[in-house]
Amino acid sequence: MAEPAGMGLSFFSPEVDTLGVDELDAVMTLERSAGPYCWSKADWKSSLEQDLCYKLVADNELLAVAAFSVVCDEVSLLNIAVPAACQGRGYASHLLQHCLAAFAAQHLKHCFLEVRRSNTAALALYKKLGFASIGERKNYYPVAGGREDALVLLCQLQRKEQ
Ligand SMILES: CC(C)(COP(=O)(O)OP(=O)(O)OC[C@H]1O[C@@H](n2cnc3c(N)ncnc32)[C@H](O)[C@@H]1OP(=O)(O)O)[C@@H](O)C(=O)NCCC(=O)NCCS
Repeated sequence: MAEPAGMGLSFFSPEVDTLGVDELDAVMTLERSAGPYCWSKADWKSSLEQDLCYKLVADNELLAVAAFSVVCDEVSLLNIAVPAACQGRGYASHLLQHCLAAFAAQHLKHCFLEVRRSNTAALALYKKLGFASIGERKNYYPVAGGREDALVLLCQLQRKEQ
């Protein structure tokens, strides 16, 4: 189960593993509890089948999920989510840092992502992990009553010295 609120990750060791299509329903439940903008079941099914999807898990409980696609030496973060009740405990940071280090070790060079301009929690997460804004896509996302811009962020992946 998730650690009690206030207990840091240093006392608690969730693990990163690949996420399979057999976990589609659990992923849908997690993402619906994370925030207002969710992928459809078809989106997640397609990503679980075709992309690289990972989970942070402890005692069989999903704490965070993320989906990436890889083309040549570039990886794109397509989605990341943490259940609302577990947010602010470092789970997204833990999962994303682990995945970025693994991609760097596989000689991938860049990680791109798009994020809603209004998504302050996600923007803070990405900036903390070394992403910087390199552009914007005007009116990219639907939002109640209109559209909102996407920011395009880039992180240069760096291999750790062996
Ligand atoms: C964005 C999201 C994945 C972050 O997950 P999380 O596990 O809460 O993130 P972490 O606890 O690792 O926090 C990482 C950093 O993000 C920032 N952050 C997290 N939640 C925040 C909030 N509500 N407000 C402002 N900053 C926040 C902090 O800077 C934090 O670092 P710090 O604790 O060292 O200060 C989570 O809020 C979520 O699932 N949101 C809904 C789905 C979503 O928007 N996904 C992104 C799509 S682009």
